Amino acid sequence: MRRLEGKSAIVTGSARGIGRAFAEAYIREGATVAIADINLEAAERTAAEIGPGAYAVPLDVTDQASIDVAITAVEKKAGGLDILINNAALFDAAPIVEISRASYDRLFTVNVAGTLFMLQAAAKSMIARGKGGRIINMASQAGRRGEALVGVYCATKAAVISLTQSAGLDLIKHRINVNAIAPGVVDGEHWDHVDALFARYENRPLGEKKRLVGESVPYGRMGRAEDLTGMAVFLASSEAEYIVAQTYNVDGGQWMS
Ligand SMILES: NC(=O)c1ccc[n+]([C@@H]2O[C@H](COP(=O)([O-])OP(=O)(O)OC[C@H]3O[C@@H](n4cnc5c(N)ncnc54)[C@H](O)[C@@H]3O)[C@@H](O)[C@H]2O)c1
Repeated sequence: MRRLEGKSAIVTGSARGIGRAFAEAYIREGATVAIADINLEAAERTAAEIGPGAYAVPLDVTDQASIDVAITAVEKKAGGLDILINNAALFDAAPIVEISRASYDRLFTVNVAGTLFMLQAAAKSMIARGKGGRIINMASQAGRRGEALVGVYCATKAAVISLTQSAGLDLIKHRINVNAIAPGVVDGEHWDHVDALFARYENRPLGEKKRLVGESVPYGRMGRAEDLTGMAVFLASSEAEYIVAQTYNVDGGQWMS
């Protein structure tokens, strides 16, 4: 039996990477999925490639009007919203003395305010419909502890873990379960950007940081987007009904090491 049959989901930042893998997994489990991304052209391409059940929605999580339009589009298209995955985020790195206000503002606006106000808009829609719902936030091992070059991103992901706890505790009375996933290091275009930043600040050849990080994972390799889909499906399924305000590591053992 498919575990998300008939459910309506929106996945932010799902034109590529981990969000795209979530969308594909949800479609396989019987859901319809809004591929919601700031890059509309890429979202449309991804939706067409994924096929029936996936549709593109323009979304900038930093813009309240855009959030409201996207939620309304899902309500119209699918008759309501059951599941939100708050996946869109930006990464940056710099030594503490070089962090710019522009980088701080950009990351906190997308990663924290974007997560909170998407969550709020989805919760309002779910409360009005009265059928409960599921909200899954993308945290990170970076939210569990600081890193010398990653001060701002780590702080944004710590904030996501905290918001998951507060929203989880507040919204469960509406039968909206809020939880989060904390990946370790996941290969993809995102990590090419991370690798380039480390190459600059740690004076390494391109690709070296990525290789070293992969070797440091107890499982023996970097994560793949598909490694995270099992948890994303589980947290959205009826099996996770009693799980509230938690953040789960899915990281090949990296956090424990
Ligand atoms: N890749 C990793 O190693 C890793 C590790 C831990 C956590 N994560 C988290 O997982 C999530 C997905 O990561 P990824 O590697 O797939 O990232 P990615 O950079 O490949 O994809 C992010 C997507 O978000 C979209 N986006 C950016 N700004 C947006 C905005 N304002 N509004 C809407 N969409 C926007 C981008 O267009 C892109 O499609 C993020 O929350 C990230 O922090 C990733």
